[in-house]
Amino acid sequence: MAKPLDIRELKALAKRRVPKMFFDYADSGAWTEGTYRANETDFHDIKLRQRVLVDMTRRSLATTMIGQPVSMPVALAPTGLTGMQHADGEMLAAQAAEAFGVPFTLSTMSICSIEDVASVTTKPFWFQLYVMRDRDFVKNLIDRAKAAKCSALVLTLDLQILGQRHKDLRNGLSAPPKFTPKHIWQMATRPLWCLEMLKTQRRSFGNIVGHAKNVSDLSSLSSWTAEQFDPQLSWENVAEIKEMWGGPLILKGILDVEDAKMAARTGADAIIVSNHGGRQLDGARSSISMLPRIVDAVGDQIEIHLDGGIRSGQDVLKAIALGAKGTYIGRPFLYGLGAMGKDGVTLALEIIRKELDITMALCGKRDISDIDRDVISD
Ligand code: FNR
Repeated sequence: MAKPLDIRELKALAKRRVPKMFFDYADSGAWTEGTYRANETDFHDIKLRQRVLVDMTRRSLATTMIGQPVSMPVALAPTGLTGMQHADGEMLAAQAAEAFGVPFTLSTMSICSIEDVASVTTKPFWFQLYVMRDRDFVKNLIDRAKAAKCSALVLTLDLQILGQRHKDLRNGLSAPPKFTPKHIWQMATRPLWCLEMLKTQRRSFGNIVGHAKNVSDLSSLSSWTAEQFDPQLSWENVAEIKEMWGGPLILKGILDVEDAKMAARTGADAIIVSNHGGRQLDGARSSISMLPRIVDAVGDQIEIHLDGGIRSGQDVLKAIALGAKGTYIGRPFLYGLGAMGKDGVTLALEIIRKELDITMALCGKRDISDIDRDVISD
């Protein structure tokens, strides 16, 4: 296959390289996947204004997210099991993001640990926290993120209980991979993936095994994970985590104006308008359709970021135009990773940067800081 030119082509390549259960894990949403689809299609309904005869010689995409410089307003979203798209996936993605000058966010549910990622990067990365019922373990994670000099904590609020994803249930997804005949066949037909996976020891949840109480092996891990998400998570807990962490804090999973107002009152540094990539509440609105209302309600009080459905530089531009200071990509970088390892993550970022740069110019803008609702057509 020729070198992918857009995220759609990267996805097609990833599908050929990654065992079905892990490709499906990335390419899935909750129940009917309606919200997952709307995240993408609602971007298509937003149209841009084409402008001409503006001097476009010098252009810049550089900006900041929570005051930290970024080469473009795109971070890598936290994604669980990333090391199953490609061996050592989190380490490779973090290195690609660092070289590109954009933030990498490590998930609590990653395969490579905080320490693994810290050992292969030189600049701070961000850490995403799920508040588990075992608060000693939460403290352990925060202490480790501090020791690794993570420069932001991304606190996920929209997973008090786990959404139901049919593909995962059908595939009997697990990490490490199961060894039923079906799974062995899925892996055997992806020999390059297997070869890389055989070379690494990192095949389970690196932040958890050996760190959480009573989780020393894989059988104890699965029962522990199933019961650890906290259905009682509250705004008081957010304040406690903020206090415990003491550094830049980003609240992820805000999709409602009332929640956005509550989030702004916590004194966090930013919120991410997000529905978890359509993986939690199917039937919720797309992130981009909620963005303008949330910006109107709290945009003057807190920095606003967005994720969900971004598949191109045009999508990034639309989110920025509607008031986001930064965006995140989840699946696009996972497809890159699955398709081509670290080079694929770099390629996903390059594709988006090029599209963003050209789109910005064709809208008659030279600098990302000049982008506002003016570029959106009625
Ligand atoms: C996620 N997401 C996620 N979010 C989070 O806070 N912690 C996590 O561990 C995960 N895990 C995860 C796995 C996979 C495979 C996906 C696709 C997503 C949600 C993620 O951070 C982000 O909100 C979405 O991925 C954004 O949507 P797009 O860019 O994938 O459309």
